[in-house]
Amino acid sequence: MKLADNKATLSFSNGSPSIEMPVYSGNIGPDVIDIRKLYGQSGMFTYDPGFLSTASCQSAITYIDGDKGELLYRGYPIEQLANKVDFLDTCYLLLNGELPVGQQSKDFHKLVNNHTMVNEQLQFFLRGFRRDAHPMAVLTGLIGALSAFYHDSTDINNPEHRHISAIRLIAKLPTLVAMAYKYGVGQPFMYPQNNLSYSGNFLRMMFGVPCEEYVVNPVLERAMDRIFILHADHEQNASTSTVRLCGSSGTNPFAAIAAGVACLWGPAHGGANEACLNMLEDIQKMGGITKVGEFMEKVKDKNSGVKLMGFGHRVYKNYDPRAKLMQETCDEVLKELGLENDPLFKLAKALEKIALEDDYFVSRKLYPNVDFYSGIVQRAIGIPVNLFTGVFALARTVGWIAQLNEMISDSEYKIGRPRQLFTGSVRRDVQR
Ligand code: SDX
Repeated sequence: MKLADNKATLSFSNGSPSIEMPVYSGNIGPDVIDIRKLYGQSGMFTYDPGFLSTASCQSAITYIDGDKGELLYRGYPIEQLANKVDFLDTCYLLLNGELPVGQQSKDFHKLVNNHTMVNEQLQFFLRGFRRDAHPMAVLTGLIGALSAFYHDSTDINNPEHRHISAIRLIAKLPTLVAMAYKYGVGQPFMYPQNNLSYSGNFLRMMFGVPCEEYVVNPVLERAMDRIFILHADHEQNASTSTVRLCGSSGTNPFAAIAAGVACLWGPAHGGANEACLNMLEDIQKMGGITKVGEFMEKVKDKNSGVKLMGFGHRVYKNYDPRAKLMQETCDEVLKELGLENDPLFKLAKALEKIALEDDYFVSRKLYPNVDFYSGIVQRAIGIPVNLFTGVFALARTVGWIAQLNEMISDSEYKIGRPRQLFTGSVRRDVQR
């Protein structure tokens, strides 16, 4: 970051001395006012619940232009990555800053493929859960438990440990997500098969069974890979900020990623794809497209507490570019599976059309986000609704790791410790 010519001066109406603060510029996007010395100089904190105007860090990984609806991974537009590279090359880019070339790509694919198996003990960990446990509860447990198996790589300040933990997490997440699914349906776990692609391996571990050959459908394989690319990273969203804050205490990478999984589960964040699919199914049960108008009235009624899941975004005030790519993927998959007339897809498109013309949504700049179509395409592939967020966590793991590593490598980083505006009881004595 570079010092801008501009400076910020904070003055007070009560005559307290004004305070000058430096302004820094990045390469693109808003400048920042450096308030680190504010408390020391004024005895006051800033107040920004939800961090609507707060940059928590400097980062070179992902950039979003919410007004343009642009998403860049290390400078490359998501549209180009989704159409020109695969997920593992995208992982390499997010982790290292450049796309792998030639042998680098082959070596990285091989390295990840050689770490796809998990310790056999983990299956006993799963057995502690009821068969109907939500997969995100299972995954939060399994990923946190991984730290118990890798004492050789839990020192987050050791670059070698960070590297091998990154590879292990990227490689093992598909295996763990598939195990959580198989455990829920009472089928045997499928071991990874390393001659398959990353996405093909995942599909086979999910839908293959030991009693017959599983043939990967290349259209579904490509769709899965694109779903992973679209979910890989997204600046300082809630779960990424959770991973950074958790990792800032020096805890091990597995524990920090488990914290990210727990945060992603929420319906306002990664859980929105599951909530969106359930919403579409509810409208379908109510009568489908004929009931959309009635549903939208509920959404616009503040007292109903009903939101149009898969719509709106803290940063995008234009169309989420991932939603467009996800809709295309939806089209491809539904055509491949002969589901072009999928009623939920038609219903989603009808909802989107109405919302994009309705002043309630237009005035609030609410557009479809990544979660609006991702549930429909995952459901078509055969992924159960309660596993959608697990797939999101699988893909986002590389983004969480890249952001965590960037923080740890930043000489300026400190343990995160926000302050507060205290509104509780002042000092009082126990009357006993
Ligand atoms: C993800 O941060 C990231 O980058 C996240 C993510 C990632 O890749 O990591 O992109 C993934 O989490 C995508 C978002 C998934 N969540 C949903 O689809 C849930 C539905 N969306 C909303 O909950 C909401 O839009 C948020 C949480 C996504 C954003 O909320 P904000 O930025 O805090 O905005 P807000 O709640 O202040 O909304 C502004 C206005 C409000 O109305 P007014 O008070 O101004 O009258 O818009 C309304 C809101 O009530 N509004 C909605 C709405 N989203 C916002 N009204 C109806 N339906 C919605 N979906």
